[in-house]
Amino acid sequence: MDTQTRPAAPPSPPGIPPGAKLRASGVERQFISGKQRVHALGPLDLTVADGEFVCLVGPSGCGKSTFLRVVNGLLPPTAGTLDLWLDGGRAATSMVFQDYGVLPWKTVLANVRFGLDMAKVPRKEANARATDWIRRLGLAGFEKAYPATLSGGMRQRVSIARALAVQPQILLMDEPFAAVDAQMRVVLQEVLLKVWEEDRRTVIFVTHSLEEALVLGDRVVVVSARPGRVVSDIRVPFERPRPSDLRGTPEFAALHQNVWDVLRDEVQASLASGKEQS
Ligand SMILES: Nc1ncnc2c1ncn2[C@@H]1O[C@H](COP(=O)(O)OP(=O)(O)O)[C@@H](O)[C@H]1O
Ligand SMILES: [Mg+2]
Repeated sequence: MDTQTRPAAPPSPPGIPPGAKLRASGVERQFISGKQRVHALGPLDLTVADGEFVCLVGPSGCGKSTFLRVVNGLLPPTAGTLDLWLDGGRAATSMVFQDYGVLPWKTVLANVRFGLDMAKVPRKEANARATDWIRRLGLAGFEKAYPATLSGGMRQRVSIARALAVQPQILLMDEPFAAVDAQMRVVLQEVLLKVWEEDRRTVIFVTHSLEEALVLGDRVVVVSARPGRVVSDIRVPFERPRPSDLRGTPEFAALHQNVWDVLRDEVQASLASGKEQS
């Protein structure tokens, strides 16, 4: 497990909520494609606390993936600022994508160890940490298997184990369960909730599914049609650990309806302007 000691978080600068892990202030991103300028995102303002699980929902093409790439440092914002408050010595972020991202020529163990190998963690320790995450994701016994021999749901567990093995301070998940069937999706949500509840790292989780967002998140942030801005930021009041019958409760249905009323307007706006993209 994580043997590194975490130094105390530095005091938050003035104006920063105590315990903030991330703050986007007026973050925008434009793309130039050919002669066209696409305003993909923002201005977007969002503060995420350390250990918080925040779900982003919004119409296709509204800039959700763009925002995750900005947070991941893959894409500089064209305006605004992004602040991260990080502890020394641990990976800042790691990302899980919809399409598994596993390397087909590597075994499950080598896939999960991948980020540790990149970080030059000694092989023995890397194997021990990877093996532990494989177990936590319910993949024990499959260490030597190749991805092609696994189901989609199992491949996605490999992706999650790999992302978590580097002990990222912020886990970014971009529609990670969109490609698996509905039953497997529920199972993967339960697995993710279980491992998250064990050590509560900061998560930003993008999903098309409002139900998924309400099952998983501490907050659901509704992003507008492109260029994506925050139109609603809803605290999810359900206690943790979340009961497995949560979806069937009247409280869940009522909150789902409330948030859907907001989200529906954005989806319609996105359709009306023809901005919807996959
Ligand atoms: N590299 C790029 N070049 C040009 N346009 C891009 C690029 N990446 C994303 N876009 C555009 O930015 C908008 C937002 O995309 P994206 O962040 O992928 O949306 P979402 O993840 O919410 O579906 C879309 O219109 C998309 O076509
Ligand atoms: Mg996307």
